[in-house]
Amino acid sequence: MKRYLITGASRGIGRELAEKLAAPDVHLLLHGRDTVALSHTRKAVEPQCAKVVLLIHDLATPVGVSDLIAEVGDEPIDLLVNNAGVAVVKPFPEITAIEWEQTVGVNITAPFMLTQHFAPRMSPGSSVVNILSIAAKTGFPNWSAYCTSKFALEGFSQSVREELRDRKIRVINVYPAATDTDIWNHVEGNWPRDKMISPKDVATAVAYALSQPADVALENITLSSLSGNL
Ligand SMILES: NC(=O)c1ccc[n+]([C@@H]2O[C@H](COP(=O)([O-])OP(=O)(O)OC[C@H]3O[C@@H](n4cnc5c(N)ncnc54)[C@H](OP(=O)(O)O)[C@@H]3O)[C@@H](O)[C@H]2O)c1
Repeated sequence: MKRYLITGASRGIGRELAEKLAAPDVHLLLHGRDTVALSHTRKAVEPQCAKVVLLIHDLATPVGVSDLIAEVGDEPIDLLVNNAGVAVVKPFPEITAIEWEQTVGVNITAPFMLTQHFAPRMSPGSSVVNILSIAAKTGFPNWSAYCTSKFALEGFSQSVREELRDRKIRVINVYPAATDTDIWNHVEGNWPRDKMISPKDVATAVAYALSQPADVALENITLSSLSGNL
């Protein structure tokens, strides 16, 4: 039996990933905060996989991350997907200290703590997937908090990848362009959803990377929309 932990599995890319990775020999550990939305994910994946456990924790604080780690327990996991994320989008003078801290907490500290705890306990052949963004490589106006967090996670995961290479643990970094999910509901402005890629496209690419032979690492995946950058 394989154990897969996906953060932010209640909606968007995380939910699609859960659906894509569900299999009879897989025990899915699905994290989120919204219990109703997470139950919808459970309903969609339960018939396809061996077992589903829902983990409800706020990852904006280290205590929430520690609680999640404790609930997952000591048994090693075979896959960690650092997917949960927030986007505060506004001119940098308007970003509040709380918004900054939450962005750092969910987008950087949580993946750091989860990787630090789980990766050393993983067996060879296991994987860590980080859902970054094209905003991990390029700055955009009004996205300073988000870009800061994704650039930081990029540096962390590139370094950790090298530390884990000898142990045959793959670190797969994913850089989606604008993807049509709820994350855009709170972003001011007129964003053409029809030009965005879908969360299913992202999940399909991740599943492809994970399906490679254990000694092959498809390490970086950038997904763009042919409709052009937004
Ligand atoms: N959509 C895009 O355009 C896009 C592009 C590139 C990269 N990404 C990245 O893809 C990842 C998934 O985003 P998405 O587009 O699927 O967004 P989404 O639909 O808004 O989903 C975000 C997920 O993160 C969880 N989350 C947010 N804040 C949290 C907190 N404080 N504690 C615990 N969980 C929290 C949410 O859980 P609850 O809803 O249960 O609170 C939800 O499951 C993020 O890392 C995002 O940066 C997105």
